[in-house]
Amino acid sequence: MTMGEKTDKTPRNLKEEMRDYKEKLLEVSRKASRCGRSLKQREGEVRDLQKTLTKLVTLTELSRILNSTLEPGTVRRRAMQAATELMEAEVGSLLLIDEETNQLYFEVALGDKEEAVKTFHLKMGEGIAGWVAQHGEPLIVHDAQSDPRFFRDVDKKSKFTTKNVVCVPVKVKEKTIGVLEAINKLDGGAFSEEDLSLFQSLADQVAVALDNARLLTEIEELFFQTASCLADAIEKRDPYTGGHTKRVTTYSLAIAEQLDLDAEDIRWLKLASILHDIGKIGVEDKILRKPDKLNEEEYDQMKQHTLMGAEIIGHIKQLHWIIPGLKYHHEKVDGKGYPEGLADGYIPLIAKIVAVADTFDAMTSDRPYRKAMLKEEAFDELRRSCGTQFDKVLVDAFIKAFETGKI
Ligand SMILES: [Fe+2]
Repeated sequence: MTMGEKTDKTPRNLKEEMRDYKEKLLEVSRKASRCGRSLKQREGEVRDLQKTLTKLVTLTELSRILNSTLEPGTVRRRAMQAATELMEAEVGSLLLIDEETNQLYFEVALGDKEEAVKTFHLKMGEGIAGWVAQHGEPLIVHDAQSDPRFFRDVDKKSKFTTKNVVCVPVKVKEKTIGVLEAINKLDGGAFSEEDLSLFQSLADQVAVALDNARLLTEIEELFFQTASCLADAIEKRDPYTGGHTKRVTTYSLAIAEQLDLDAEDIRWLKLASILHDIGKIGVEDKILRKPDKLNEEEYDQMKQHTLMGAEIIGHIKQLHWIIPGLKYHHEKVDGKGYPEGLADGYIPLIAKIVAVADTFDAMTSDRPYRKAMLKEEAFDELRRSCGTQFDKVLVDAFIKAFETGKI
């Protein structure tokens, strides 16, 4: 095949590639065991065996990464690292198409020039990657510098020299959503037809992983928006709490960021913040909408919203992680809160965070029977209540988030 000529090989899947490598492995080991070979021949066969073994291990690793439940960004990066290793290339990139601008941007660009490379956006048809994206066909370029499609600006800015390239489209249901490219075969070698075929099968697997991640994100967004609508509908019954849920969620997430909680905990905290008062659906209008302070009996009824919220969500087994946030967000660290009067060490973190966020918003919002406090007054009140109502670490984190402009 000449420089830049496209392949007509049909891409195969990873399983087929792995089967081929296993067969090659067996063949080489059979050859190596035959007698009468010269030492030089044997050395070559052992090198082939090692190369094939390395490819097999990398393929297995890549398949594991793509099927893992890691965060999508991490999956893309690790997959690209394994793919570059498999291609025996100096660097590799994953470029995706921005549907709004119809341009390619670097989602992953391996190597120490990543920051410089990521500032580039390629027009459709621009450069080798743009050509592959536009035509939806794979390409090997053996001498990039003399190829008219080569886009020099990326090299100039990143002070890198592109010698040869293998580039394949990433397609979801026949639609090109991006490209994978591996640049500069190591040891001055050339990319082969075998490389191209293998790279294309990897790209097909990457496409499946990317599409799964997109679907997951969409489902998750739909779920959070549905939960927010539900909370909003309940909030609408109470004329004094407009926007409360959104603010409590913002405050809780700001505390979580200060505490450096992991992504999974933040996800549950976000949902608990959105749904923390869902139990108010079971509180009578005359109590919920009462413009004056509640009497003791009414207050007792209002307190039930914590248990009712926990009961409602208790029917959804996948959401059991957020129940403590709903049930215990009115507990106090001195044990004088409700519904169970739990003391500090027994109150779950998720509930303690929602408590700070919820109380701050209540203090800084107008009520019919009192005016809203200024933020500074509310901060002082939170500080005064450390050790009785709130956990000091969380109050400090919350105030710091405000002071550093995170809220
Ligand atoms: Fe509440």
